[in-house]
Amino acid sequence: MESPLPDDTTPPAAARSSVLIVDDDALLRETMHTVLADEGYLVIEAEDGVAACDCCDAALPNLIVVDARMPRMDGYTLCRELRSRPATAHVPILMVTALNDRASIAAAYEAGATDFIAKPFDWLILTHRIRYMLRTADMVEVLRSSEAWLRAAKDAAEAADRAKSEFLGNMSHELRTPLNAVIGFSRLMRDGLHGPLDPRYQDFAKIIADSGAHLLELIDDILAMARASPGSLELVVREVQVADIVTSSLDIVRLLAAEAGVSCTSQIDPDVDTVHADPARLRQVLVNLLSNAIKFTDPGGAVGLTVRREPDGGFAVHVADTGIGISADKIALALEPFGQVEQGLSRRHPGIGLGLPLAQRLVELHGGTIVLASEPGLGTMVTARFPQVR
Ligand SMILES: Nc1ncnc2c1ncn2[C@@H]1O[C@H](COP(=O)(O)OP(=O)(O)OP(=O)(O)O)[C@@H](O)[C@H]1O
Ligand SMILES: [Mg+2]
Repeated sequence: MESPLPDDTTPPAAARSSVLIVDDDALLRETMHTVLADEGYLVIEAEDGVAACDCCDAALPNLIVVDARMPRMDGYTLCRELRSRPATAHVPILMVTALNDRASIAAAYEAGATDFIAKPFDWLILTHRIRYMLRTADMVEVLRSSEAWLRAAKDAAEAADRAKSEFLGNMSHELRTPLNAVIGFSRLMRDGLHGPLDPRYQDFAKIIADSGAHLLELIDDILAMARASPGSLELVVREVQVADIVTSSLDIVRLLAAEAGVSCTSQIDPDVDTVHADPARLRQVLVNLLSNAIKFTDPGGAVGLTVRREPDGGFAVHVADTGIGISADKIALALEPFGQVEQGLSRRHPGIGLGLPLAQRLVELHGGTIVLASEPGLGTMVTARFPQVR
């Protein structure tokens, strides 16, 4: 019965592979030609290095068997010549050297030969060696082409990323410049700096100024989110005083909390006086979590921030509130960019749904995680865990 597997002794590739024999000994060339042709190879002959170069120019062989000593151009010079040409730089070369001649074996490898075989050689070993070298060359070729493909894909991705950053930088500038004029001049009008304004117009100026400021915040959030994608943002991690970060974060949300009628307290465990983190990003995480907690808590409620040491040596930030909570099936939505639990006209709270996913990205850039635990009507606790930096 015929085996469904390919015959291991005569692989199908052998039939298509061409072998160039370079030797000044016509009899040896002829014998080798017969043996290799019997194995299914397409055989080409050249009597020296110069003729071999011409053969390679005419048709690139899959493998070259080269005698070391030849007139006009010897085997070593031929090897070096072939390696210097882009077309033959990777074609496997089997050098035929004198028996036990260590110096010529070393010289063969140095000249760029892939392998050597000593004279007089066993024909069976020669054919096995050639088959093995061709198989290896095929595998190397596959690796080389996938490496080239990967490099091209990586270059394209990096170029796209650079283009995105550049685009964002330009957009940021282009959007902010006119917006600054809108905000600046509408504030001048609102405050009546150049003389009194009709109260109705003063109201309009206030609306323009507030809307402009809101738009500027949105632009900043979108830019921050885009910049926080992996690879686009380099963290500047250093030792930071936890109390400093906590105090400055609470300062930023103090007005928001006062307006919402929500109390805000903090507690830092004594064993976490300093941590390793990017201070600006850590503050942004705290501010985003605190402003959510305040925003989604009714007047009279409470928000608490706790920083604790983790068993692995890292630290955790917990932001707990007594607010409206999130049902379990909506937690994944809340973490999505632009994902908000209250949709459309039923929304009572301002925002575009970027604060939480941005906080999550910033924590993940530190190697950490964000987890939400919530009970609708009772409150929410968001935990950001930062692993120890070694
Ligand atoms: N502490 C919380 N309590 C209840 N719901 C929350 C809380 N934090 C987040 N959410 C829900 O998750 C959604 C997404 O939060 P996120 O901070 O990303 O957006 P946002 O606060 O609506 O807008 P932005 O932060 O961009 O101003 C919120 O709209 C809200 O529905
Ligand atoms: Mg938010």
